[in-house]
Amino acid sequence: MTPVTPVRPRQGGALDPRAIRRDFPIFERNPGLVFLDSGASAQKPAAVIDGVAEYYRSDYANVHRGVYRLSARSTELYEAARETARRFLNAREAAEIVFVRGGTEGINLVANSWGATFLKPGDEVLITELEHHANIVPWQLLRDRIGFALKVAPIDATGGLDLAAFEARLGPRTRLVAVTHQANATGAVLPVEAIARLAHARGAKVLVDGCQAAPRLPVDVQAIDCDFYVFSGHKTYGPTGIGVLYGRKALLDAMPPWQGGGDMILDVTFEKTTFQDPPARFEAGTPDISGAIGLGIALDYVEALGRDAILEHEEALTSYGVDRLSRLAGVRLVGAGQRRLGILSFQVDDIHPHDLATILDRHKVAVRAGHHCAQPLIDKLGLGATTRASLGIYNDESDIDALAEAVTAAQRMFKR
Ligand code: ALA
Repeated sequence: MTPVTPVRPRQGGALDPRAIRRDFPIFERNPGLVFLDSGASAQKPAAVIDGVAEYYRSDYANVHRGVYRLSARSTELYEAARETARRFLNAREAAEIVFVRGGTEGINLVANSWGATFLKPGDEVLITELEHHANIVPWQLLRDRIGFALKVAPIDATGGLDLAAFEARLGPRTRLVAVTHQANATGAVLPVEAIARLAHARGAKVLVDGCQAAPRLPVDVQAIDCDFYVFSGHKTYGPTGIGVLYGRKALLDAMPPWQGGGDMILDVTFEKTTFQDPPARFEAGTPDISGAIGLGIALDYVEALGRDAILEHEEALTSYGVDRLSRLAGVRLVGAGQRRLGILSFQVDDIHPHDLATILDRHKVAVRAGHHCAQPLIDKLGLGATTRASLGIYNDESDIDALAEAVTAAQRMFKR
């Protein structure tokens, strides 16, 4: 395998986005690209692209099946990626890391395995108004099968979670709290440690959706004290089609498989099947081996930059963006509560977000427009749609300036 993880030159520990951009071939192939859509999917460093290609060239074989050396090597690389993901989340053991297709599949796995087994009619599952569809729809689908109540904790006037209202909605029948670590549509960061404490005090389990947080914040599942944590590889500078579900070992041990086939079995007869321990129990069929290996490389890359340095970078650039956009007449930022990170969602007077995004694209500024797969939140905010700029490790102030200048140009165009 290609050696990974070029450690970026630092200036006083800070990230150097210009140097980082040189690690991402997309910027060389698309000169002038101002990429502000990492919240939808992040770009990939050459280490990931080349590492995956090199794996296919040199080490590829199926995992956990062959007795020959190539399969053993492939298995070793796949399991090494699991250990990398364990370290990334500070899970206690690698058996708590299940490879899934992405954050969405991780939540669906918990719903269809843990939820379908342990939730009963009359129970309650509590989510928040800040969730994207992946942490709403699986619970609705399961509710319609089982008959539990799906409750929703509201946002406050600033766009953050109303923690007092959240606490008031926790009851003796609350079995699960499923919350985002960071809202994808607005960038609001939720106090997941406090949420977990409150939920556990009522005996509820806690699932945290880390799709936006994992690329931006140091995540420690033991410090959060959550029961499940999910994130997507493709938003964390890794390949598409791979993600991670962390589950507390005792919970995974008690959960039945949700998909059958391949290597998740101990023994199969036509009458009956017994199953492997986690994580294999939840990885039916040939897994996305190269995806897992690519994700391991991406996580190593992120670790080499430094999680604290990334957080500092995202915080500083978010402040700069808030300041820069707030100075533009006719631009309104969507509230994100006490703590906004890496995401700037905004509206511009008299220009529909889709029109704006199309005009920004002419200036080579790539942003997302619409409801961001968080339609209930955008509806609650009374907005219909927003334009969203989401930041990554390769962005710097010049990208925010380019965004602001392109917005101003769009305003001029619409005034004509
Ligand atoms: N959830 C992804 C986003 O925020 C797709 O754009």
